[in-house]
Amino acid sequence: ISFVVSVHPRLQLWGSSERACSDFKSVKTAICFIAFSPQELPSTRRKGFLTEHAAPFSAFLTDSFGRRHNYLRISLTEKCNLRCQYCMPEEGVQLTPKSELLTTQEIITLARLFVKEGVDKIRLTGGEPLIRPNVVDIVGQLYKLEGLQTIAVTTNGINLARLLPRLKEAGLDAINISLDTLVPAKFEFIVRRKGFHKVMEGINKAVELGYNPVKVNCVVMRGLNEDELLDFVVLTKNQPLDVRFIEYMPFDGNKWNFKKMVSYKEMLDTVRQRWPDLEKLPCEASSTAKAYKVPDFQGQISFITSMSEHFCGSCNRLRITADGNLKVCLFGNSEVSLRDHLRSGASEDELVQIIGAAVGRKKKQHAGMFNISQMKNRPMILIGG
Ligand SMILES: C[S@@+](CC[C@H](N)C(=O)[O-])C[C@H]1O[C@@H](n2cnc3c(N)ncnc32)[C@H](O)[C@@H]1O
Ligand code: SF4
Repeated sequence: ISFVVSVHPRLQLWGSSERACSDFKSVKTAICFIAFSPQELPSTRRKGFLTEHAAPFSAFLTDSFGRRHNYLRISLTEKCNLRCQYCMPEEGVQLTPKSELLTTQEIITLARLFVKEGVDKIRLTGGEPLIRPNVVDIVGQLYKLEGLQTIAVTTNGINLARLLPRLKEAGLDAINISLDTLVPAKFEFIVRRKGFHKVMEGINKAVELGYNPVKVNCVVMRGLNEDELLDFVVLTKNQPLDVRFIEYMPFDGNKWNFKKMVSYKEMLDTVRQRWPDLEKLPCEASSTAKAYKVPDFQGQISFITSMSEHFCGSCNRLRITADGNLKVCLFGNSEVSLRDHLRSGASEDELVQIIGAAVGRKKKQHAGMFNISQMKNRPMILIGG
């Protein structure tokens, strides 16, 4: 039997009747004080401790196919300082009035509830999460949630170099930075804004501050950037980057068509022709990425094959949109408004029941890329990838 008593989020009293601390080998019962801060206790130690003492997983976050949803993505805003062709419809999107977006307090209340039920990883996304003025404070508040092992952010990188030192100090563990081209003029064409050098600065800052790996998300589209695959692989030669090639996915208003999608197999063939000894790396069960490495390169590459080889069977993700809807599948249009229930005074137990019912209705897999492209869904920018 072991137990964890929390005195303060960063100070825990840990006792065990079976497992003695190394200093107390001859004693049956031991009590250890662990005092830590983000700087003093590396996230790997925090993770090890939490994994060892994990509570049983919540039935409410387990769906009818036995998938345990321990990973929550929260969209912090619908707004963005870029206008990527594959994400934002050309005509723009109708923004939700501010009063209908989740407040910081509501975000933290929901995050706490999910973490209590077993979520151990939260990713902040959007829109562009780093344009939310209090994003550092949100990371800091999430860091205090006991049981949360990883706080990650997906960003377009424009504001990253400036904010990263403070985000790191607040407890940010992992970063994904989106970059679809290494050619500045093409960058402007794809994202309909300037900023290439700021994104590169953001990537360099993340490496400099010790994030490892720094994940770089690259949506590959035929006729646009598939000719740059090998250049992206070369980026991993001397830097701890994980360049993730993402298959182009259909969302409302992004003019997706099958011919523009470059499949995993095709991308892999292109890379293999240049580096025939490309090594396949083992990956975690719930990982969405198929990882590879060129021998002797410091970093690695991965492929996100949501279209050609979906990974619905091991999906462990849930999403909360900026306007407070719970989305159990990125490609499904069923949503439930947690905001409305929160605002009408639902108790914690009622909210957990509502979340459990939505998770319970989650389908086995998405409808296939052609059906998805015909279905009504939100544009990606209003979901939070
Ligand atoms: C919606 S963005 C939000 C976070 C942030 N603004 C960013 O760009 O990283 C999250 C991720 O979704 C990816 N994404 C957006 N639309 C996509 C699409 N149609 N197909 C594949 N990935 C897409 C982006 O490249 C980005 O890596
Ligand atoms: S992918 Fe990210 S950066 Fe690009 S428009 Fe969408 S939210 Fe903005």
